[in-house]
Amino acid sequence: MIKYLELQRINASFEPELSAALLRVLHSGWYLYGEATERFEQEFAHFCGTPHCIGTGNGLDALTLILLAYRELGVMHEGDEVIVPANTYIAVMLSVLRAGLKPVLCEPSPDTCNIDTDRAAALITPHTRAIVPVHLYGRLADMQDVHHLAARHGLKVIEDAAQAHGAIYEKRLPGKENQPLRAGNLSDAAAFSFYPAKNLGALGDGGAVTTHDAALATIVRSIANYGSTEKYVHRYQGVNSRLDELQATALSVKLSRLDRDNARRREIARLYQENIHWESTALRSIINAGDINESNVFHVFPVFSPRRDELQRHLAAHDIQTQVHYPIPPHRQEALKQEYGIQQLPITERIHNEELSLPISPLLTNEEVGQIIDCINAFG
Ligand SMILES: Cc1ncc(COP(=O)(O)O)c(C=O)c1O
Repeated sequence: MIKYLELQRINASFEPELSAALLRVLHSGWYLYGEATERFEQEFAHFCGTPHCIGTGNGLDALTLILLAYRELGVMHEGDEVIVPANTYIAVMLSVLRAGLKPVLCEPSPDTCNIDTDRAAALITPHTRAIVPVHLYGRLADMQDVHHLAARHGLKVIEDAAQAHGAIYEKRLPGKENQPLRAGNLSDAAAFSFYPAKNLGALGDGGAVTTHDAALATIVRSIANYGSTEKYVHRYQGVNSRLDELQATALSVKLSRLDRDNARRREIARLYQENIHWESTALRSIINAGDINESNVFHVFPVFSPRRDELQRHLAAHDIQTQVHYPIPPHRQEALKQEYGIQQLPITERIHNEELSLPISPLLTNEEVGQIIDCINAFG
């Protein structure tokens, strides 16, 4: 059986260092707001190239905390609009609603599945305050276009980098012409998830906010800790959203190998891209040879087919697990369809009907990848 993702195998590959580090925390008796979290925050800020990193309980909280902090700063007010991709995980919509703001759904480019800034431009109103590009499947959104649009309309740019840890943008952004920039450093503030299956995954929930904005960072940190500015002094109506010492420790161990793991994901992507018989299987790809570079960390390798369910069953019959990202788009979900269900979003719906994610764990062997490719090529 080739599993979609074998977390056991991945975690075992960090031994014995991982267990030893976790045991040190266990025996220390200090589990929250300690040295390990502080160290990981510094390491991850340095890795992303931002001066600030705040650990959070998960990625949904990281997104929500950024928006709540902008509300406290008076940058956004109740009911203001935030443009979000229509074809992503539900988290970003929920975070905007949680912060008392209004998500405005934007169709993606069918060629990349990332936000289409021409379409986003048409959605801007006098109430629009921010745009949230999601680096979907690990591929960076076109941040140059996003920033041009945001600058024209005075919008904040918030990255949802939950699927793109380590990706490096190949173009230059205004004011930052000299250095290559990573996900998390391409906007006013970024949200990361360390859900176990992510490219950088914890052993449970975890997340982070990265930013250059010191005022925003201070408020995010405070809201994440019950809105307190010092112990038992509460300035904001905050929440409890912490990255704990055990998770931070696991993340520090794993961060040291992230670039290597992402490079292996790219090698596997290249094997898929070069060896799947795209025409005879009538599968569609959004990955061309030129797209396999550091700006994509291949959290997911998506293929598209109107016969997606049939292909998934064919692979399962040959002991190959796949996943769908995602079977139901947010606007069609029970939780949101009353308000958003009437929207016509044909590009989004086609993606949700046709997408299939192939295994792309960095620990897959070339033999296993070859087996997957042969099985796909036999799909007639
Ligand atoms: C694009 C995206 N945004 C946000 C999240 C939310 O992260 P979490 O599950 O850590 O809350 C996820 C993943 O789960 C995600 O894939």
